[in-house]
Amino acid sequence: MKGLILCGGLGTRLFPLTKITNKHLLPVYGKPMVYYPLATLVEAGIKDIMIVTGGNNAGDFLRLLGNGREFGLKHLNYTFQEKEGGIAEAVGLAQHFVGDDKVAIILGDNILEGSIKGAVDAFENQEKGGKVFLKEVEDPSQYGVAEIEGEKIVGIVEKPEKPESNFAVIGVYLYDNAVFDIIKNLTPSKRGELEITDVNNAYIQKGQMTYEVFKGWWGDAGASIDALFLANKHIREGEISSP
Ligand code: G1P
Repeated sequence: MKGLILCGGLGTRLFPLTKITNKHLLPVYGKPMVYYPLATLVEAGIKDIMIVTGGNNAGDFLRLLGNGREFGLKHLNYTFQEKEGGIAEAVGLAQHFVGDDKVAIILGDNILEGSIKGAVDAFENQEKGGKVFLKEVEDPSQYGVAEIEGEKIVGIVEKPEKPESNFAVIGVYLYDNAVFDIIKNLTPSKRGELEITDVNNAYIQKGQMTYEVFKGWWGDAGASIDALFLANKHIREGEISSP
């Protein structure tokens, strides 16, 4: 399985911190934000990884991460997103890299405490389709929100005013190779982007989406200044209490 880390966008919700740098390079306690999702993929056993970024600071990712030696990697791949075309557009840019493989995608501002290895291994054996991870949160309307019926996920609504559940869809997605055909058939949303939620709903409509509730702590550090602060605080407390 190939891995993608998505580090595009303008980071407007964190302005002015993002005026002169990319959101995913901002510090989360002792490390740049992108270190956390990269460590999550590597821990899950994924070694072929591409960073998708854009904007003026794209070159800084190469300076920061190089070939990924600090993470035990031999090589890292990079590609450049020219416009603010959305998460699904960023995934589409990596088709040549993914080839015929499956793909594990993580948003560069998502911090997961705990492993996704079990789910990644199980997905290797899932014949087709996709898998998302859910987390119960107090403020679901900031996220994609899952509608669950019995054991099944029946739909996802992006940032709903009236959420159907408290289950946020976290920024980790496992897809089979059909994702690239799904992306080609998407139309831009009201904000002019190709939405990852539309990709997920396409899999749900095909009856090919599974999910797991993520057990560890999860933070979307790029969602707001408060979310960034909370992620810093959480990581600091964890590091101080560990021996
Ligand atoms: C994105 C997705 C959203 C998901 C969130 C998780 O939102 O569109 O469905 O719940 O990531 O971090 P963004 O934070 O990019 O607005």
